[in-house]
Amino acid sequence: MIHPMPSAEPEIMTTLDLSRAETGSPRSTTAPPAVATKANTNANSNAPAALDVLLSRQSQWPLTEPGPADTELDLIIDAALRAPDHGNLRPWRFVTIRGDARGPLGDLLVDLACARSPGEPRSAHAHRRQKAFAAPLVIALGAALKAHPKVPEIEQLLAAGAAAMNMLNAIHALGYGGFWATGPDCYEARLHDALGFAPSERLLGFLFVGTPKTPGHAPTRPSRSEHVRDWLPPQPA
Ligand SMILES: Cc1cc2nc3c(=O)[nH]c(=O)nc-3n(C[C@H](O)[C@H](O)[C@H](O)COP(=O)(O)O)c2cc1C
Repeated sequence: MIHPMPSAEPEIMTTLDLSRAETGSPRSTTAPPAVATKANTNANSNAPAALDVLLSRQSQWPLTEPGPADTELDLIIDAALRAPDHGNLRPWRFVTIRGDARGPLGDLLVDLACARSPGEPRSAHAHRRQKAFAAPLVIALGAALKAHPKVPEIEQLLAAGAAAMNMLNAIHALGYGGFWATGPDCYEARLHDALGFAPSERLLGFLFVGTPKTPGHAPTRPSRSEHVRDWLPPQPA
């Protein structure tokens, strides 16, 4: 079974991180607002509408009802299934957790926190149950990994990550908000198994999906120049 441990514990949203409230934006049924981008600010006046969706996406927290309808969830999944995929391995796996199913998930998150801190009373971790209710729809992201002569594991993980990104963009295009989170729970064998992942499958985190509770700011992007360069071929000696 593959249960890698992270080199450093990822940032966790155990308290539902309400400080992120300022980054939310209300659900809209129209295209997301244009963002400007001259010099990587938020201007985006020349972008076609589809590109505008990509440029204006931001992670949204906190989230509330309503979540996507079934037909909308189908579109979100369809977008995921259009991710690039070397060898047509289809490594993506998604487990939706909705409605009452979030209760047992929340209980398990409390169990896991208690097991990590055996000296502490259960009440110290009771708040972790809320994480399962942080959005109307929680999607566990998985990757089914297999040995392949031409497609190493990293490429299969990248394909699964690309699928998750397509989902976040589709969620945004539909006027909802999404947030991809991991945390120490995601590296726990008990959670992996409870979600029904096979030994060869890996849990890559959760997508929380719903309607942003609060309006937010236009997203900022890092400077292009710090992340892009032209390759200068080595000069002959
Ligand atoms: C694989 C992955 C795991 C993440 N896990 C967490 C997490 O556990 N907690 C958290 O606060 N942010 C996490 N993030 C970051 C958020 O999803 C989000 O990208 C970040 O807050 C920046 O917001 P933005 O997408 O609007 O730029 C994770 C991102 C990725 C790609």
